[in-house]
Amino acid sequence: MRTQVAIIGAGPAGLLLSQLLHIAKIECVVLERQDRAYVEARVRAGVLEPVTVDLLGRVGVDARLRRQGLRHDGFNFAVDGEVFRIDMAQLTGGLHVTVYGQTEVTRDLIDAALERGTPLFFEAQDVALHDVDSAGPYVTFGAEGQAHRLDCDFIVGCDGFHGVSRPAIPESARRTFQRDYDFGWLGILADVPPCGEELTYANHEHGFALASMRSPTRSRYYLQCGLDEHLDAWPDERIWDELAVRLGQSAVGMIRGPSIEKGIAPLRSFVSEPMRYGRLFLAGDAAHIVPPTGAKGLNLAASDVAFLSEALVGWYRDHADAGLEGYSARSLSRVWKAERFSWWLTGLTHRFPDMDPFARKMQLAELSYIRGSIAAQTTLAENYVGLPLD
Ligand code: APR
Ligand code: PHB
Repeated sequence: MRTQVAIIGAGPAGLLLSQLLHIAKIECVVLERQDRAYVEARVRAGVLEPVTVDLLGRVGVDARLRRQGLRHDGFNFAVDGEVFRIDMAQLTGGLHVTVYGQTEVTRDLIDAALERGTPLFFEAQDVALHDVDSAGPYVTFGAEGQAHRLDCDFIVGCDGFHGVSRPAIPESARRTFQRDYDFGWLGILADVPPCGEELTYANHEHGFALASMRSPTRSRYYLQCGLDEHLDAWPDERIWDELAVRLGQSAVGMIRGPSIEKGIAPLRSFVSEPMRYGRLFLAGDAAHIVPPTGAKGLNLAASDVAFLSEALVGWYRDHADAGLEGYSARSLSRVWKAERFSWWLTGLTHRFPDMDPFARKMQLAELSYIRGSIAAQTTLAENYVGLPLD
C-alpha cells in the first residue's frame, strides 16, 4: 500500500488531521488500534476553544456542534463554597468557549471520514514505524489477519501518550519535561440537568471539584482524589455528598442521579521535544499532556494539526519545506503557554498533599486578588478561551 501521509491514531488529532488533508487533496491513511465503538465511547474533555470550533468548521464537520454545542461566555470559581464569576466574553472582546463532548467531536469526525472515503483502519494491530529518518518511511501493521506495509512520504504520530510514535524517535534525539501530580480526578457522568448554566471550578479545604456538563440533561462532575483511591470506595451517594460540600453555593439545587460512567484519572504535565524527527511528526497527546484543569488537551491537538496540515500543504503544493522545518517550534510555542496555564490553574485550585498553611494562604490570596482585579481576570480569561494560533 502507498499513501502520502500515514496517520497513527484516530483520536481528535488523527481524525482532524485526516480531514484537513482531505480538503487539501492530500492522501492519507489512518491506522487505529481500537475498534470504532471503543474510540467513540471514550469519555474525555468537553470544552472547545474558538480556534477548535473554527477548524471543525473549516473541514465541514461542525453541523451538529453548531446545533448542540453550548455557548459559554463565562465560568465560576467557588472558594470554600463562595462563588464568583469570570465574564470571559466581556474580558476578551466577545470570545467564548463551546461545551461539546470530545466523544461527539470524535463521532462527527469518524462519520465525515467514512463518508468521504478516508482510508481508516480500525483494529490495526502491531503498528510499527520504519525508516522514519529516511526519504522513504513506512509503517507495518496487521489487519484482519493480514500483514500490511504502508509506504508513505510522512508519518504523523497521533497515537496519544501511550502510543508507539514518540518512542520511534531515539531517546538521544528527544528531551522530555514532566510533572506528575500527587492526586487524581474522579469523574462521573450522569443524566441529570447540570447544577448551573456555566462551569464551576471549586477550591475547597477538602480538595478541588468541577461542575461541568455535556448537554442541558447530562452533567459531568469531577472530584480531586488521592492516587491510591479506588472507585469501589466512592459509591454515587458519597460522590454527590462531597460535590455538594466542595461546590458550596454553586451546588444549591444540584440534581442527583445514578452515574452512567465513573473513572479515576491521574494528572500529568508532559512535553516531548522536538515534535519532529526526519519524516515523523508528532501531534496531540503523543507529544504533550496537560492536567485537564484548563481543558486544553483537545484544543492543543487541534492547533498542532492545524499547523502541520498547513506545513504539509506547503510541501506538496509549493515544494517548500519551511512549514515542516518550523512545525515543531511553532506548535511548541503554543503548547508551552497552555502547559503553563494548565499547571498554574491546577496549582491555584487543588489541595496539594504537602501544602503547608502558608501555601494555602497564597492560594486564597491569589483567588481573592483575581476576584477583585479586572487585570487578573483578563489574563485568566484570555488563556481559558485559548491564545491565538500565532
Ligand atoms: N496503533 C494505533 N493506534 C494507537 C496506538 C497504536 N500503537 N496507540 C494508541 N493508538 C490510538 C488510541 O487508541 C487513540 O484512539 O491513538 C489514539 C490517540 O488518541 P488520544 O489519546 O485521544 O489523543 P489525541 O488524538 O492527541 O487527542 C488528545 O484526547 O485523550 C484526550 O485528553 C486528551 O483531550 C485530549 C485529546
Ligand atoms: C469536562 O467537561 O470534561 C471538563 C470541562 C472543563 C475542564 C475539564 C473537563 O477544565
